[in-house]
Amino acid sequence: MAVLREPLLVAARSPRLRSVAEKSRLTRPVVDRYVAGPGEQDALATTRELAAAGMSVTLDFLGEDTTAAEQAQHTVAAYRSVLAALGEAGLAGQAEVSVKLSAIGQSLPVDGEKIALDGARDICAAAAAVGTTVTIDMEDHTTTDSTLSIVRELRVDHEWVGTVLQAYLKRTESDCRDLAYEGSRIRLCKGAYAEPESVAFTGAEVERSYQRCLDVLLGGAGYPMIATHDPVMIIAARQAIRRHGRTAGSYEFQMLHGVRPAEQRALAAQGERMRIYVPFGDEWYGYFMRRLAERPANLLLFLRSLTSK
Ligand code: FDA
Repeated sequence: MAVLREPLLVAARSPRLRSVAEKSRLTRPVVDRYVAGPGEQDALATTRELAAAGMSVTLDFLGEDTTAAEQAQHTVAAYRSVLAALGEAGLAGQAEVSVKLSAIGQSLPVDGEKIALDGARDICAAAAAVGTTVTIDMEDHTTTDSTLSIVRELRVDHEWVGTVLQAYLKRTESDCRDLAYEGSRIRLCKGAYAEPESVAFTGAEVERSYQRCLDVLLGGAGYPMIATHDPVMIIAARQAIRRHGRTAGSYEFQMLHGVRPAEQRALAAQGERMRIYVPFGDEWYGYFMRRLAERPANLLLFLRSLTSK
């Protein structure tokens, strides 16, 4: 099944397949395992449910690789709106937002970085207004330097802005060392994009890198956000937490909506801070295809939903 990872990740970037899949209503039931629903109200309903079960949330308005400035503005407006709605619903203490810079203009050919920085600033201001935080997602390795530099700019006004480091990148252990300072919020994940071997580890090396990065982040002064569903990584994290004398609340675990929900509840019940990444919106294709690449067993189910009448 591992051979399917690469083609699925290539398909995740195909605008033609994306348009066919997103237009097909039949795919929705399969997609709904991972996505709260198309609208803001769906995101709020899922947030309420997870909060009632003792978990926190990070909301992601679906979209990426935006090719038009208007689309980037639309995404910024959607984030502002959902942040205001969280505030009004009294949920801002339980939920923050996660943002992909490519969804708010980073990859636009003219002034992309500036457009993304301005949009992210607006989103951060909206988060500050209701008293919550923002985490900037990490995309493929060609964007890592640009993303880290935008995060640095954002932190000048909002020192709570967090970001993501991907253990599959060979550079990441060193990035962890640079970013393990007080006040820094770093989500550590394995990484979800198709990357060349020149920059990324493969196979068991990714897991070894994840554990080295855990050690750096948990041994540092920042706030590590341990994003994995892998039982072996979770055990390694708990050992590192003990080794570094970390107390509850000085780190958190994170998982994706719909992936290992029983384990999510079990960790929360054991007193761990558990945050669930909850995507919502119509542009689910890229996100969903990366989830399929992690779990190709779901592919058959998805293909059947595309072709059934
Ligand atoms: P692994 O893929 O080995 O999965 C371990 C086990 O979890 C599997 O055996 C299976 O049981 C279950 N599982 C995992 N994925 C599943 C799926 N899709 N469906 C069903 N079961 C599944 N990546 C990135 O590049 N940039 C980012 O910004 C983020 N952000 C992010 C936020 C959060 C909160 C999480 C949890 C993850 C991310 N990721 C990400 C994705 C991450 O890089 C990685 O691709 C996935 O978390 C899968 O890796 P695991 O560590 O879970 O291990």
